[in-house]
Order: sequence, then structure tokens, then C-alpha cells
Amino acid sequence: MITCEGLVKIYKTDEIEVVALQGLNIQIDAGELMAIIGNSGSGKSTLLNILGGLDRPSAGQVKVGDWDLLKITDKQLVDYKRHTVGFIWQNNARNLVSYLTALENVEMPMMLSGNYDPAYAKQLLEWVGLSHRMNNKLQELSGGEQQRVAIAISLANRPRLLLADEPTGSVDTKTADMILAIFQRLNKELGVTIVIVTHDLSMAGKVGRVVAIRDGMTSSEFIARNSAMTADDGSGTGLAGDDHEEYVVLDRAGRLQVPKAYLTALQIDGKASMEFDGEKIMIKAPKVITASEGTAPNSHTVGGKTK
Ligand SMILES: Nc1ncnc2c1ncn2[C@@H]1O[C@H](COP(=O)(O)OP(=O)(O)OP(=O)(O)O)[C@@H](O)[C@H]1O
Ligand SMILES: [Mg+2]
Repeated sequence: MITCEGLVKIYKTDEIEVVALQGLNIQIDAGELMAIIGNSGSGKSTLLNILGGLDRPSAGQVKVGDWDLLKITDKQLVDYKRHTVGFIWQNNARNLVSYLTALENVEMPMMLSGNYDPAYAKQLLEWVGLSHRMNNKLQELSGGEQQRVAIAISLANRPRLLLADEPTGSVDTKTADMILAIFQRLNKELGVTIVIVTHDLSMAGKVGRVVAIRDGMTSSEFIARNSAMTADDGSGTGLAGDDHEEYVVLDRAGRLQVPKAYLTALQIDGKASMEFDGEKIMIKAPKVITASEGTAPNSHTVGGKTK
């Protein structure tokens, strides 16, 4: 469904350039429900905005279904945003019109795209557990309820792809679990591909695959050991625990990101030495050659034997 290769996004403001994505690679299958995690400023929203057609990439490849988002025309982009992709923004105010009712909010994107279907709008609000609040104005709903309206709105035009930026950022744990359960149901019953950006590790722990972004690049991936895991099994103990296996991501050229904490701990800066023993690859601080050793054949070990 989604392929990004060497994706670059540079924001230019006055004199300053920010490289928000620096050659990011990611592949997401149709029908997947997956999460993206990463520190603040790592490029998560930037990636989602590009996938959602809200922002243009600077370079690299980005394809969603049959669409090439680097080459897409402005006119095609409008079509893409209306029919292929649904978006739940990090800032809820962007999703909703406060003086309209919940139902009117869901109907609006349908009207804009010419697919007005009030019965489906009601059904979506039932799906997110809001049939009893349909005719309330948005400003009369709680934050968690508004977030669920935002989910219903994002699905109004039956998108194949749903992008959610911190959908549980400002709700309590119970509402967060409910939102995740809605996503799981949409994914299973409608087959919608869902990408969730989150800071919430317990939420990330409950989906099949989690991709971690660091400094605008994919750094590692966590894959559930039991791929049939669901939110209600209650066993999400966090990442890289019992539930997820962690893998480091290599790009096509074999490049990988070494976590800063590891480099700092070993005082590696700029250069490192690498050893391969037939089974493992070890990255070590460069060997300091002391005056007494001179340039004599050095004595590093490979596979336990001294050479
Ligand atoms: N419109 C913009 N103009 C200039 N710089 C931007 C713009 N949007 C984002 N950036 C910068 O790009 C980098 C990535 O930002 P992004 O919003 O993608 O981070 P994020 O991972 O979503 O963070 P958070 O978890 O805080 O939402 C940051 O350094 C940010 O300051
Ligand atoms: Mg963000």
C-alpha cells in the first residue's frame, strides 16, 4: 500500500533549513494496522502529512497504492485526499467544526465530495459509540467524544488508508483503549490500512508492527511475536518486552542507525571499528594505539581466537 524510499523533506524558513526527513524508508502493506513512534521532532507528523497529501516531499520516492505522491498534480491531489486517504490530525481543532453537530460534521466531507450518504454517516457514529450524541454540537462533547467524531469524519469518504496523528494524545487510558478497539474493528471489518503515530507505548504495544523513527529516518522495527494479538488480550506490556521482537532497519545500501546512547557509552565519535565473526557483527570504539604498541601487528580478537 505504501512505499517510501529515500524520502527527504526539507522545510525552508527564511534563512534556516530544517531537514525533517533525511532519506526515510518504510513499507506498509495493505490491510496493516501499525504504529509509528519516535521522539518529539523526529519527523512523524512530517511523514504522515506527506502520506496524507497535505505536504509535498522534497525528494525520494513515495507511493501510496497507484499514486506517486512526488509526481502527483495538484488536481489529482485533491482527488487523492477526498477518496483514498482519511486523516486524523494531531490538533483536534483541525478535524472538527465546533458549531455543527456531530452528524453534520460527518456529513460535511460527504457533501464536499458529492457522496452524501446520511445513513452511512449515522452508521459511522454508531461504530464509534456515539449514536446517542449525534445531534449534539461539537462544543457540547467531551474531548474523547470529539476524538471519536474525528475518527468517524476521517472515514466518511470510505478511504482505503487511515492516518492518525496522536489520536490518543489528549484522552484518558480508557478512551485510548476504546479508540484503539475502534481502529482494530475498522481494520478487520472494513480492511482499512491504518497508520497511527503515537507517543503512547502501551498503545504501540498492542499493534502488530511498530516502526521507530529517529532523526528523520527509520531506525528500528518491533514485530509482534503473536501476530494475532488484539487490544483486548490485555497483555501489552510495552515494546521489546515479551510481545515484540526488535529489529534494526537497514537501508538498501546496508546503512543503519546506531542509537546515540550506545555511541555515547562507548565514546564512539565519527569512527568505529567493526568485526565479523561469522555469526555476529560487532561495532567497537576505535582501538587506541599507544606508543608502546607502535605499529606492531595488533592483537584484536575474532571469534574468541587471538590473531
Ligand atoms: N512547517 C514547518 N516549518 C519548519 N520546520 C518544521 C515544520 N514542520 C515541522 N518542522 C520541523 O521538522 C522537524 C520534524 O517535525 P515533526 O512535526 O514531523 O515532528 P514530530 O515527530 O511529529 O514531533 P511531535 O512528536 O512533537 O509531534 C522538527 O524539527 C520541526 O521543528
Ligand atoms: Mg507530530
